[in-house]
Amino acid sequence: MMDAKEKPMKPLFNLKEKNVLVTGGGRGLGKTMALALADFGANVAIVDINLDTAKATADEIAAKNVNSLAIMGDVTNELDATKAITAVVDTWSTLDILVNNAGIATVEPAEDLSLETFKNIYDIDVNGVFNFSKAAFSVMSKQKYGNIINVASMAGISVLYPQEHVHYNSAKAAVIMITKSLAVEWAPFGIRVNALAPGYMVTPPVIKLKEEDPDRWEHWMSRVPMGRAGDPDELQGAVVYLASNASSYMTGHIMVIDGGYICR
Ligand SMILES: NC(=O)c1ccc[n+]([C@@H]2O[C@H](COP(=O)([O-])OP(=O)(O)OC[C@H]3O[C@@H](n4cnc5c(N)ncnc54)[C@H](O)[C@@H]3O)[C@@H](O)[C@H]2O)c1
Repeated sequence: MMDAKEKPMKPLFNLKEKNVLVTGGGRGLGKTMALALADFGANVAIVDINLDTAKATADEIAAKNVNSLAIMGDVTNELDATKAITAVVDTWSTLDILVNNAGIATVEPAEDLSLETFKNIYDIDVNGVFNFSKAAFSVMSKQKYGNIINVASMAGISVLYPQEHVHYNSAKAAVIMITKSLAVEWAPFGIRVNALAPGYMVTPPVIKLKEEDPDRWEHWMSRVPMGRAGDPDELQGAVVYLASNASSYMTGHIMVIDGGYICR
């Protein structure tokens, strides 16, 4: 056995020369995570249904002296997934890390929820994750290396109260099981699959919900042991950890970052 002093020091959190694709990276958590990965040296491609915000994030990434791409794409569309992943590989030769972040939520009681809305949430939040993961597999399996990070939610583990969103809770539970299933299926191909399960984070859709009903917001915060929502920047350390060698033996893990919410 090697003496500890002789062991080569791994650059644990170094992402230099890693090529990353972040879905829904035009704003919110996706943008924050994309900037963090760039801070640690990664080249980052942003895929978003909104090309303007994708371009704005890509410009901020490029200002960090790494390479960036802005790609318009809908995560629910198979052709968009293939095109986006091909664009990354044609430009940078590899796709090392995929962050499946794009997702939406609405708050509606189950009895009023239309089947159309239910299906739409599943299409973006669940099918979108599978669609981009499958497209990435075609590249990552040939590389014999890949790292997929899904953005689930504490809502996939614990029913949030009092807001009603059976569609969102169950969709995020599906993301958790997609994460675990693909981690097991794709481990032999050298692909790791983990997920982040954030709690309430202050992003545009959450700010809107706060403004719509300040009393409800106070109630939500009273149920968070830390007594506040998270700043999107508070996910940066976790995504860099999952993306880097620091987590090299971790797969199928759901990393909860929720101010203690699901402990109660
Ligand atoms: N904000 C929170 O409190 C919170 C908590 C837990 C999990 N999440 C999850 O984090 C992820 C990001 O949420 P956010 O709060 O940053 O939301 P956001 O609305 O600020 O950002 C979502 C991004 O995804 C893009 N997008 C939406 N539909 C798309 C599609 N079909 N194809 C491609 N891009 C699409 C949007 O244009 C936007 O840029 C979502 O999966 C969400 O469920 C958020």
